[in-house]
Amino acid sequence: MIKKVNGLSNIYPVWNRLEEHYQEIKGKNLRQLFTENSQRSKDMAIEEMDIYFDYSKNRVTSETIGLLLKLAQEADLPKHIEAMFQGEKVNFTENRAALHTALRMPKGSSLLVEGEDVTTKIHQELEKMADFVEEIRDGSWRGFTGKPIRNVINIGIGGSDLGPRMAHEALRFYSARNINFAFISNVDGTDFSETVQGLDPAETLFIISSKTFTTTETMTNGCTARDWLLERLKDENAISRHFVAVSTNQTKVEDFGIAPENMFVFWDWVGGRYSLCSAIGLSTMIAIGPDNFYSLLEGFHQVDEHFRHTPLEKNIPVLMGLLSIWYNNFFNCQTAAILPYEQYLKLFPAYLQQLTMESNGKNVDREGRAVTYQTGPVYWGEVGTNGQHSFYQLIHQGTKMIPCDFIAFLEPLYNIIPHHELLLSNVFAQAEALAFGKTAEELKEEGISKKLIPFQTMPGNNPSNLILLDKLTPANLGKLVALYEHSVFTQGVIWRINPFDQWGVELGKKLASKIVQELRNPHSSDLQHDSSTAQLIRCYWNRKK
Ligand code: F6P
Repeated sequence: MIKKVNGLSNIYPVWNRLEEHYQEIKGKNLRQLFTENSQRSKDMAIEEMDIYFDYSKNRVTSETIGLLLKLAQEADLPKHIEAMFQGEKVNFTENRAALHTALRMPKGSSLLVEGEDVTTKIHQELEKMADFVEEIRDGSWRGFTGKPIRNVINIGIGGSDLGPRMAHEALRFYSARNINFAFISNVDGTDFSETVQGLDPAETLFIISSKTFTTTETMTNGCTARDWLLERLKDENAISRHFVAVSTNQTKVEDFGIAPENMFVFWDWVGGRYSLCSAIGLSTMIAIGPDNFYSLLEGFHQVDEHFRHTPLEKNIPVLMGLLSIWYNNFFNCQTAAILPYEQYLKLFPAYLQQLTMESNGKNVDREGRAVTYQTGPVYWGEVGTNGQHSFYQLIHQGTKMIPCDFIAFLEPLYNIIPHHELLLSNVFAQAEALAFGKTAEELKEEGISKKLIPFQTMPGNNPSNLILLDKLTPANLGKLVALYEHSVFTQGVIWRINPFDQWGVELGKKLASKIVQELRNPHSSDLQHDSSTAQLIRCYWNRKK
């Protein structure tokens, strides 16, 4: 029987004050808040590490921020941050550290974990990756028949797919254009079949990426890839020229037929959704080259240092996390939108879904008690301006408040200036429209007919952050991802949950492995399922051709 804990007011003395303060703030609108403080846009902006973080269009006052910062102190956030960076076993349900921050520590630095300097082995692996990457990029790595590699296909799922897939898309501008990159994740055979259509196996390298090397989807796709290649190249020896693995599990990699020299390792203290900076980023390094990959790591590291050492009131990821708590737990917002105004970031919302929702989608606190407060919200989003022509209407005039994160870059990657000015004007305009809306009086003054005024009135008062960076570079992508990683961590600390495990995905995996046996063996078993599931299985037996 799971014991219940009654809200966070029992834990944090400031929680009740925040509840009262919410009652004072909820009726105020952003127009008033901006009128009350002419310095607001300056007071509520932070410029650090070439990031301009504007949080002035949030439904907060300086008092709100003060109370939220007190909450962070009462939750011992600085102590938790330090524990994570020091390699303490903050992932306590799996008895592991969560040391993704060590992956981007510069060469020459050191971090002793249980008597071992982890940065040495991290940099050894990065160097092994870089050597391999150079051989692929300069064509000296030859396929089994002597051809250079023209297609790199990453096979993985979850964190072993979303990070490399997103980073490849985000950094395509910096990518080698003489190599095709593709990603296979879904166990749906269509994903595999469509991806390999027309490819020459003699020019194709598969990277099997899986922390555990047991994940059904990845192993199934990996085996199908091996069969596909062997059917065409007709020699087992071809495997060593066309398959490499990225994993923590050497035994399973060898069982698959990949030799240790073709394996890139990482460690159990790197969570799947935090693994982009590990060898899981191998396809990214092939695409952008080692130097750009090191810049990506440097961007992550800058934000790590900022998160670890900057006072809470000037700490961007801490403020991002606290604002999320404010909307989630006081305004009862169920979702949050991620709206990048950069085409190359089209996969960023999908990437953040795993990072945020697999991390903070938890209903049990650190002591194993069922929580009685809301934890992680639903994250979703789309690149601007596309979203403006689909779902923004609901944010502007629907009945739900949806906090938004706008992300934009001051400089374009392609020098088509009129496009970029339009793009930027749209992101600024949307944040303005969402915050300040349009009143009936203003519409009347503009001569809008009385009948149409209710339909054209824009309530405004929808909160947003704007994260502005100079340009989409590898380093800036690293900064952006690290901001969200640490915002997620901040929220997890306040909610007193473990953001580093994911037990919720296990039940479905177990049921699927049982059901697949039943699907394959019609009428052979006594179906131990609810009547709906049992009927679906029978339906498959009866109707499949
Ligand atoms: O779906 C659960 C999960 O464990 C994710 O956390 C992880 O990123 C993904 O599966 C893939 O796991 P692996 O890298 O071990 O194949």
